[in-house]
Amino acid sequence: MNNFSKIQMGVDYYPEHWDPSLWEQDAIQMKEVGVKIVRVGEFAWSRFEPEEGQFNFEWLDRAIHLFHRQGIQIVIGTPTHTPPRWLTEKCPDILPIQANGHTYHAGVRGHRCFNSVSLHSYGSRIIEKLTLHYKDHPAIIGWQTDNEFSLVYCHCESCNEQFRVWLQAKYGTLEQLNQEWGTVVWSGEYNDWSQVTTPFGGSPHQNPSYQLDFYRFQSACVEQYQQTQIEIIRRNCPEHFITHNFHSYPQKLDLYPLGEQLDVAAFDYYPNTSPDKTSTGPYSGALSLDVTRGIKRRNFWIMEQLSGPPGGWGPMWRTPYPGFIRAYIWQTIARGADTVVQFRWRSATMGAEQFWHGLIDHSNVPGRRFEEFSQVCTEVNTLSRLLEGSIVRNDVAILHSHDQLVALDIQPQVEGLDYYENIKQWHRALTKLGIGTDVINWTENLSGYKLIIAPSLYLMDSTVATSLEAFAAAGGTLIITHRSGVKNLNNVCLMEPFPGMLSHCAGVQVSEYDPIANSLHHIITADEQTYSSTQWCDILHPTTAEVVASYHDDFYAGKAAITVNSFGKGKVYYLGTHPEENYMKSLLHQLAVAHDIPHFPDLPEGVQISVRMRDSQAFFFLLNLSRESRSIVLDHPYKSVLYDGLTHEGTLTLEPYGVDICTIELY
Ligand code: GLA
Ligand code: ZN
Repeated sequence: MNNFSKIQMGVDYYPEHWDPSLWEQDAIQMKEVGVKIVRVGEFAWSRFEPEEGQFNFEWLDRAIHLFHRQGIQIVIGTPTHTPPRWLTEKCPDILPIQANGHTYHAGVRGHRCFNSVSLHSYGSRIIEKLTLHYKDHPAIIGWQTDNEFSLVYCHCESCNEQFRVWLQAKYGTLEQLNQEWGTVVWSGEYNDWSQVTTPFGGSPHQNPSYQLDFYRFQSACVEQYQQTQIEIIRRNCPEHFITHNFHSYPQKLDLYPLGEQLDVAAFDYYPNTSPDKTSTGPYSGALSLDVTRGIKRRNFWIMEQLSGPPGGWGPMWRTPYPGFIRAYIWQTIARGADTVVQFRWRSATMGAEQFWHGLIDHSNVPGRRFEEFSQVCTEVNTLSRLLEGSIVRNDVAILHSHDQLVALDIQPQVEGLDYYENIKQWHRALTKLGIGTDVINWTENLSGYKLIIAPSLYLMDSTVATSLEAFAAAGGTLIITHRSGVKNLNNVCLMEPFPGMLSHCAGVQVSEYDPIANSLHHIITADEQTYSSTQWCDILHPTTAEVVASYHDDFYAGKAAITVNSFGKGKVYYLGTHPEENYMKSLLHQLAVAHDIPHFPDLPEGVQISVRMRDSQAFFFLLNLSRESRSIVLDHPYKSVLYDGLTHEGTLTLEPYGVDICTIELY
């Protein structure tokens, strides 16, 4: 087993925020509750290097020593998210330049341009020093690169220059770029590379090919930047793992190439505490966790997890209801998190995040939330051995693509059509049916899946199209939807009937479409059921497909809305419209039955089931992510590994935010 696969709890800790006299008692208390991991350092550059070239790790040595004495292991974050004042003063090229020419000043964080030469040299130097200093420390097990990468939208000279270099590598000549982007429209043709710049402003409706490439370029800059950090860490600390804490999906930043460079992906999880969000929050949370597991197609870490009422960036949210903290920790483990690190040990008494609460309040008196955390630590530590090495294995995958996300954001197709929201709805329908789902990059290998859902493959890629065809031909069921095959990868419209390269396997062509936005239309299925639909209506012309549902409204009443085509040994569904969730559930339920996909169709609202497998042993995590008690009828005897270890039969009742972990004698 590698050193990042343990099932354990951790906390984020900022020794530099506390009087050193508190460190030891904090470390002792951590040990007492069962904390195994502490993350430190990710914003502490001004303490590591208080003045240029003056390095000071002595304070962190002392803190780490205290943790180590308590048997706690350490992950260090590289501090490049927050370059210190002396550095930004000396090297202003570190600070990003906004589109209006204004500087993005220091004082908070994220004030660094990934293409800044000074950031590269000073950033590499501090990481070099840190890694050399800690490479042999027995408590250190891993590194986090920077903190919560996202796109910076910098327009400095260096970014402009690098953008041109990136485009030259992609297109070779300016003629080619003009041609691929279609700059002839509105006399946008470039005569010289010097005219190609980052988008400084003007109309927001810039050439869509240009905009898409600018996003890709920015993602590439983050990748390149992370790579410089990774090279140093790997060289100096070959025994340590490397991770990054991704956050807040959907992200325009392409997660997958960044993930490739890492050993393990991590996510910062702040589920919404508002009672108004209970019908959606637990489901979009489940999606975030599945997206994170998909980054490397394996288990992951939670590097920050909600521990108290969030605030500080705005008015505070509700405090986590009793059981909320515990249930959401188990939700992350259920979906493949191994280590869960809580943000943060204690609420900050100073700085902008004073009211983003930690496990312990400012009073330093451990309260209800700390009690709950300590209960989870005990549970996790008790089950750690049993669950270690277990993984999530699913028959169903949703394809997720940053290219589609960005392209559909550059040119919103119609009010109400949002790429990631549509993925959320498919995922929610699956989760409500208790069907485990992977969410993977659209270019991934699809073997092993029974059902693939690929919403809006707006930009078509021939390799992906071929792989989807092959998947269906070999016996898989594929669901594709409206807005597929619209453009090439350079964001230029294709002159062929939709869904383009997928028309053949779908056995259907779109003869016309109606962007209906939020106006409610209806579809009628072959068995006379009526469902509402919104967003879009493709009027379909089946070539070899059968009609599954037809339109009820408008001039296209009676025309095909949803079709299915037998292709090779499999089937391809085409949804020309965006149906209500009940339709998705009914279709998915039908497919789960037909293809023997494990499912639990009668889950009450807010209840989620997910499964981790170790060899042939399945652990079922039953989570009630709601404020009411819920009952689940289980058809098979189950044994609770979380509570009594005894076998039960019949109804399992979960209190508000109740959790159970069971083995079920299914077959
Ligand atoms: C992010 C950051 C943390 C902290 C939390 C809470 O996740 O990584 O440093 O700021 O948000 O706001
Ligand atoms: Zn820049």
